[in-house]
Amino acid sequence: MTALVVDDITVSYGRLTALRGVTLTVDEGEILFVTGPNGAGKSTLLNAIAGVVPPGSGSIMIDGARITGAAPEDIARRGFSLVPEGRNVFGALTIEENLKVGTGMRADRKTIAGDLDRVYQEFPMLAERRHSPAGMLSGGQQQCWSLAAR
Ligand SMILES: Nc1ncnc2c1ncn2[C@@H]1O[C@H](COP(=O)(O)OP(=O)(O)OP(=O)(O)O)[C@@H](O)[C@H]1O
Ligand SMILES: [Mg+2]
Repeated sequence: MTALVVDDITVSYGRLTALRGVTLTVDEGEILFVTGPNGAGKSTLLNAIAGVVPPGSGSIMIDGARITGAAPEDIARRGFSLVPEGRNVFGALTIEENLKVGTGMRADRKTIAGDLDRVYQEFPMLAERRHSPAGMLSGGQQQCWSLAAR
């Protein structure tokens, strides 16, 4: 089944057109790499799919449902989420609080604790410091958090 369809989308920032006529499909289980030079529009593409920037034209569908122009939280509920590049932790929150931020909208509340345990097994350093402010982690450790937040 086609999980994601991006059909002929255009995204502009004011007078600058960052994406023009971008079309792609991703099937269930497929991994798609999008590559290109700085400023080519990769982040804009992902932000458009996530609802962070609205496409000016074209359409986007996730699992057959048209999500063009939908709010980011509604798109996230359909299973599309961005792993931020760089650190992007909430520095004043603890590591555990950062990990829990993304669980707020999950309907399967009972499986959250198990998922946290799995993350802590994979990244023991995060477990040791789960009650410390995330802003006190080193740069590389903060990037581990980004991976864990997936
Ligand atoms: N918030 C914004 N406001 C105005 N212009 C923007 C904004 N974000 C990106 N752009 C412009 O849109 C174009 C595409 O940028 P984008 O960030 O999508 O590129 P990218 O492929 O992700 O680049 P990189 O490899 O450097 O991350 C660039 O010309 C950039 O200057
Ligand atoms: Mg980018």
